Amino acid sequence: MKKKFVLSLLAAGAMVVSLAGCAGGASSGTSSSGAAAAGDGSLIGVAMPTKSSERWIADGDNIKKQLEAAGYTVDLEYAEDDIPTQVSQIENMITKGAKALIIASIDGTTLTNTLQNAKDNNIPVIAYDRLIRNSPNVDYYATFDNEKVGVQQATSLLTGLGVLDATGNKTGKKGPFNVELFAGSPDDNNATFFFNGAMETLKPYIADGTIVVKSGQTDFNTVATLRWDPATAQARMENILTSTYSDGSKVNGVLSPYDGLSRGIISALTSAGYTTADIPIITGQDAELDSVKAINAGEQYSTIYKDTRELAKVAVGMATALLTGGTPETNDTKTYDNGVKVVPSQLLQPVVVTKDNIQSVLIDGGYYTAAQVNG
Ligand code: GAL
Repeated sequence: MKKKFVLSLLAAGAMVVSLAGCAGGASSGTSSSGAAAAGDGSLIGVAMPTKSSERWIADGDNIKKQLEAAGYTVDLEYAEDDIPTQVSQIENMITKGAKALIIASIDGTTLTNTLQNAKDNNIPVIAYDRLIRNSPNVDYYATFDNEKVGVQQATSLLTGLGVLDATGNKTGKKGPFNVELFAGSPDDNNATFFFNGAMETLKPYIADGTIVVKSGQTDFNTVATLRWDPATAQARMENILTSTYSDGSKVNGVLSPYDGLSRGIISALTSAGYTTADIPIITGQDAELDSVKAINAGEQYSTIYKDTRELAKVAVGMATALLTGGTPETNDTKTYDNGVKVVPSQLLQPVVVTKDNIQSVLIDGGYYTAAQVNG
């Protein structure tokens, strides 16, 4: 058993080096030559939260493609945002003999027992995009700089409102601007990081009156959106419009942490009579195709692009390294405390996308074709 492991370790060496080498890089191709030997057909379990958001479909596809190219067998499962379903999918992966787990959790606090089971079976666990909390058995974390995402969302909101110019300098424009705030799912560790990053950026402008949160709803629990559900955000926006803006005043900006929520918010606003002429500056995240189209159409102002091909590459590189005796590459060993330990992380850099750089970032970068964006 041990001998076989060492042999496959040796056979895998070249592949590991090549995967680890491109984990944080800009290239999006996958390695293939000699790849079949590296994985030796072992099973890797990949648990994704839901297919209802296009980004997770892309993440799952990219991870599967890259793992298969490296010679692994993949069990890719989606749980449709149902926590018990995700738990039993992961338990099944363990039973089937998975050699590593890559998990984007639905609720980051509910996998403690499941991960103990993984640990008891010597299965390493990589948290994918979302930190898994309350467990010592999370080995590595592949994600983006989540606080920076929030800073970028708030900064682009200020740019869209004209408070900051394109280089981030103050224009002197003082509003006041009516802004409403939305946050993500309270059980997703990322949601707090996004919101805190954004609020750090917005606070001075709220303090000096440039930004007015007219509804008065500013604390995380009030503005959070369980399961990142677009319909919940739409309903909350509708309520705010009725309770706070029926005096004829207008919403000028909306901090939204995710494209799906932004689409719900846009629906609420357009149903209430807003048109592209007076729709607020609305942010987002994930560069989902429908939202990129909405940006092109002038309904949404910005999104935060996180290249799922690159994130997949980091996670695959980590899994491969762990299975072949290597050490995964990390660039952050202090930010992501999961309540039990600080999980060593590899953070990628998010990019703000507005109408001005859809072409140069998303189309020239091969994330979407021009036909998809314009179709
Ligand atoms: C977060 C993720 C975001 C967005 C959101 C809703 O965890 O970091 O990019 O996808 O979930 O799915």
